[in-house]
Amino acid sequence: MQEQEIIISRHLEESLAKATGNCPHDKLFVLTDRTTQEKCWPLVAEFPCMADATHIVIGPTDEHKNLETLSAVWTELGRQGATRHSLLVNLGGGMVTDLGGFAAATFKRGIRYINIPTTLLSMVDAAVGGKTGINFNGLKNEIGAFCPAAAVLINTEFLRTLDRENICSGYAEMLKHGLISTEKHWAELVGFDLETIDYHRLQDMVGQSVAVKENIVAKDPREQGIRKALNLGHTAGHAIESLALQEGRTVLHGYAVAWGLVCELYLSCVREGFPKDKMRQTVNFIKENYGTFAFDCKAYETLYQFMTHDKKNTAGHVNFTLLCDVGDILIDQTAGKEEIFNMLDFYRETMGC
Ligand code: GLY
Repeated sequence: MQEQEIIISRHLEESLAKATGNCPHDKLFVLTDRTTQEKCWPLVAEFPCMADATHIVIGPTDEHKNLETLSAVWTELGRQGATRHSLLVNLGGGMVTDLGGFAAATFKRGIRYINIPTTLLSMVDAAVGGKTGINFNGLKNEIGAFCPAAAVLINTEFLRTLDRENICSGYAEMLKHGLISTEKHWAELVGFDLETIDYHRLQDMVGQSVAVKENIVAKDPREQGIRKALNLGHTAGHAIESLALQEGRTVLHGYAVAWGLVCELYLSCVREGFPKDKMRQTVNFIKENYGTFAFDCKAYETLYQFMTHDKKNTAGHVNFTLLCDVGDILIDQTAGKEEIFNMLDFYRETMGC
């Protein structure tokens, strides 16, 4: 898979001019959703390198990350004269970069694209690493392709357009990157004040966080091995996210990941000897900043069923990424029903539900 250039950009105009200049094109397209069109496009609208861009605007949020919207983007690219030598700039959160990336990967067998992620979640996760796709048949990211952007421009000025919940949501993936990297990075993350955000410090931490993902993806772009480290917290997290959706109490993805980390740090602790003090410190940080998603023991079977249907599994086993310590990663760990129910007991006792 080709390399993607990740640019931690302190000067967006310069970086974007350089990135578009590095991708010779006959026509330039910009994909936004209605929210990023209103809130983020004004930050780039005056740049000379964007002067001739043709706009495609789609509906916001995950409910639009579907075949219909993808088809509308293909149609618009075709109608506006895009060729195989055109360039697409995706300006938005994970929904825009995932769907736009997939539209680019497939239009005329592939055109080049640049991601400008505008949410913390997309900066540290979705926009980086070449996973593109849409939801299909009720399943998240069911159809897609590995197709890296020509460049990903990360500029934390966009973070100032986000509310606290969206900062916390992205920060959960940063916490995960801390847990799978170094003690120093993890300690800085659990010591950060999410109530009164120091944006300069956050910008540096975002740079470190993206580097963690970038290094892992470079070793294993197609998730055959170590890229599965990035799934820490996601087996339990996706199950909680699905339960929340089923019960009509939808939660942001990162919140579910944070609660999933609580569950999977417990498994890491009882099975692999992950240090209890580090588990407590991380769990307390999550409890303070993310609150609790409450469920009772009647939900265990449903959560377990969601875990067994996770696409990360092989042949009926529930698959986890676990830790022996911060940065000491074990992929492809399976756990039985009883262990999983104990894990859910721990979650409820610790999080007070
Ligand atoms: N979001 C996990 C990955 O990109 O592999």
